[in-house]
Amino acid sequence: MKKFFIAPSILSANFSKLGQDIKDVLSAGSDIIHFDVMDNHYVPNLTFGPMVLKSLRQDNIIAPIDVHLMVDSVDNLIPLFAQSGATSITFHPDSSKDINKTLSLIRRYGCKSGLAINPEVPLSILNNFMDQLDIILLMSVMPGFSGQKFISSILNKIFKLRKMIDKYNSKILLEVDGGININNIIDVAHAGADIFVMGSFIFETKNYKKKIDMIKNKLNM
Ligand code: DX5
Ligand code: ZN
Repeated sequence: MKKFFIAPSILSANFSKLGQDIKDVLSAGSDIIHFDVMDNHYVPNLTFGPMVLKSLRQDNIIAPIDVHLMVDSVDNLIPLFAQSGATSITFHPDSSKDINKTLSLIRRYGCKSGLAINPEVPLSILNNFMDQLDIILLMSVMPGFSGQKFISSILNKIFKLRKMIDKYNSKILLEVDGGININNIIDVAHAGADIFVMGSFIFETKNYKKKIDMIKNKLNM
């Protein structure tokens, strides 16, 4: 059976007890922590940086941490996030001056590399980079905020990307980010996603285990 990964986005966590929220969501059965980095330039919102990641690692959080950079000028941040304990680092193509260089920088620092594709960006932008990618993050909302509605036309884009991945580099993981909930997760899975980023759906209640069990039941995990 296909392996799925549940990746809670801590953009929806309680920042006053971030470490505990992450431990709780991991012990409730999630696989990856999705770490949304925003700089108030690339997107109109501001979150956390490498120092927060480093503190979480020092607090014995050992699960994979998937850093999603929504910042301008990504290159100078990559060593900092890698040395602070990132497992994977994903950036948006228009935030890098040289996409090849940024992708190789990420791998050189020992992390998995990824590109994030906004809803309006065509998949053809990936054509020259398929052999340098470990992850492709398809945005199903405009980046910047949690709690937005899933853009349903992205389902067809997921399906097309699945075909591209199967044809050119089947090791790439297809991650979908934004607006996923219990009502649409099956459609996202059937279209071909491997990793489901979920913020508000998981964090809107205190009982993370109940939410994650619901998701696993839906996915037959
Ligand atoms: C949006 C972020 C997402 C977001 C997901 O810019 O990249 O990770 O937090 O949150 P939900 O699941 O609430 O859409
Ligand atoms: Zn994200």
